[in-house]
Amino acid sequence: MRAPLIDAFGRRLSYVRLSVTDRCDLRCTYCMSEQQTFLPRKDLLSFEEMERLSLFLIDSGVERLRVTGGEPLVRKGVLDFLRRLGEQVHTGRLKELTLTTNGTLLEGAVPALVEAGIRRINVSCDSLKPDVYRRVTRGGDLARVLSGIAAAQAAGLHIKLNVVALAQDNQADIPDILSFAHARGIDLSLIETMPLGDDVAGREVQFLSLKDVLAHLRSFWQVEGVSDTTGGPARYYRIKETGGKLGLITPLSHNFCDTCNRVRITCTGQLYMCLGQDDHVDLRAALREDASDAGLKAALAEALLHKPKAHDFYISGAGLVQPARSHAPARPMSL
Ligand code: GTP
Ligand code: 5AD
Ligand code: SF4
Repeated sequence: MRAPLIDAFGRRLSYVRLSVTDRCDLRCTYCMSEQQTFLPRKDLLSFEEMERLSLFLIDSGVERLRVTGGEPLVRKGVLDFLRRLGEQVHTGRLKELTLTTNGTLLEGAVPALVEAGIRRINVSCDSLKPDVYRRVTRGGDLARVLSGIAAAQAAGLHIKLNVVALAQDNQADIPDILSFAHARGIDLSLIETMPLGDDVAGREVQFLSLKDVLAHLRSFWQVEGVSDTTGGPARYYRIKETGGKLGLITPLSHNFCDTCNRVRITCTGQLYMCLGQDDHVDLRAALREDASDAGLKAALAEALLHKPKAHDFYISGAGLVQPARSHAPARPMSL
């Protein structure tokens, strides 16, 4: 038996989010500013390095791996990488391999995802109105995402729809989005906008507290708390009338740091122990300087000691999203 990875606050680290690229074929208004540039490719970990790192993490006690981005499906070679990681699922060494995608390239990727042993994916889509979707994503085509979702469902993948709650873009449509998802057996996660990366225009006006959204949803449906967890940040509810699940990801109005089981690795191999802080250790250097895993082991042990108790985001008295108090995370979600 491997010793579990336990941090200074007694939390067990079992879940890693691994970003394979900072690039994306969309440019959602709350995520990327118009000026945001992409990293030179040489800064990124190669897939060989990512595979070595993933195997090391699995050996160290990580049980769930979520591949993310940017948009992970835009990176050439990602499907082969997923197939190789899938061997760890097939042999039972990894409990779960999952993917977060914006869905634009999903349709063509579905067979490879199934082959890789992926059972569930999270698809980001903030509106079901083609014009609103195009505005939020700065040019995205909703029809492609919907075909991707349909293909994934037809192949038996379980889908969670990620919707960032945006006061001006989708607030009024959230009940319809919930009905759409639950009618198709899709779970829904609503997400509060987090102050990450560039100070993108309009983030403050767009911020919606999910406490208020939940109160609104309760006027349509009976919303029951459930204790299910993916070990993630969402608090889950079930809608009695639809039988579907609703997750609320509320880093601002109700943080979930006490039970946090996860860390994030950027596409350049930086291990962030918390999404909302800038402290990190350089696993790329450990990978490149040392062919044995001794450097990685030391870096992981060091990082574990420094996982903070909670992130630094907060809401001001006026209820607006503010940059973090001490270490404003300059890094965007997409890194
Ligand atoms: P599962 O729980 O495995 O379904 O994944 P998830 O919902 O955490 O993953 P996904 O990539 O779909 O992310 C949904 C939202 O949760 C995104 O806005 C993430 O940035 C946010 N999120 C995920 N992990 C963390 C975390 O550790 N801290 C914070 N503040 N947000 C997180
Ligand atoms: N705040 C909250 N969620 C964000 N995402 C991207 N940027 C932000 C942000 N600043 C969401 C995407 C996707 C998930 C991976 O993160 O919409 O669903
Ligand atoms: Fe791309 Fe996701 Fe960021 Fe939108 S939120 S720009 S889809 S990485």
